[in-house]
Amino acid sequence: MKKAAIAAIAALGLTVALDAAAQAKPEDLVKQRKAAFTLTAKYFGPIGAMVQGKAPYDAAIVTRNAGFLETLSKMPWDGFQASTADVKETRAKPEIYKEGDKFKASADKMQAEIVKLAAAAKSGDQNAVKAAFGAVGQSCKACHDAYRRD
Ligand code: HEC
Repeated sequence: MKKAAIAAIAALGLTVALDAAAQAKPEDLVKQRKAAFTLTAKYFGPIGAMVQGKAPYDAAIVTRNAGFLETLSKMPWDGFQASTADVKETRAKPEIYKEGDKFKASADKMQAEIVKLAAAAKSGDQNAVKAAFGAVGQSCKACHDAYRRD
């Protein structure tokens, strides 16, 4: 990277995500993973309202939101570093850092279901979107039941 670019990133106070995740401040990692989940809920919720008939079905919004979710669903995970286990403002259970494989499997499951949701959205088949929405919701709940405090 050019010096100017590095300086620009430093000036913005951005965390360079990839390798830096392990070195980032634990409090920042918690904030960032929560932000990713907050946006996930923001774009997931309206799809639920539509497939449940609480809002008129808008195929363009469903497709757009599912696309956002495909990207968002990749974001929270590098924020779950063992260094965050002692942060106060978190509902993440410490088991996450002892059962890394199981936690990752749960995260992978959610991402796979979201890929199916995005495919269903593109197909325009509302029944398929409804089924995929349910499967994604189950995958959120399964992880929250196991790894998030009430
Ligand atoms: C593999 C585990 C896992 C999956 C899958 C998962 N979550 Fe979470 N989620 C967590 C954990 C752990 C927290 C607590 C994070 C914290 O407090 O540090 C959380 C927190 C949240 C929060 C609260 C964020 C905040 O600001 O405190 C929302 C909203 C949320 N998840 C929505 C979702 C939705 C919607 C899905 C499915 C589309 C989902 N999550 C899938 C583990 C998961």
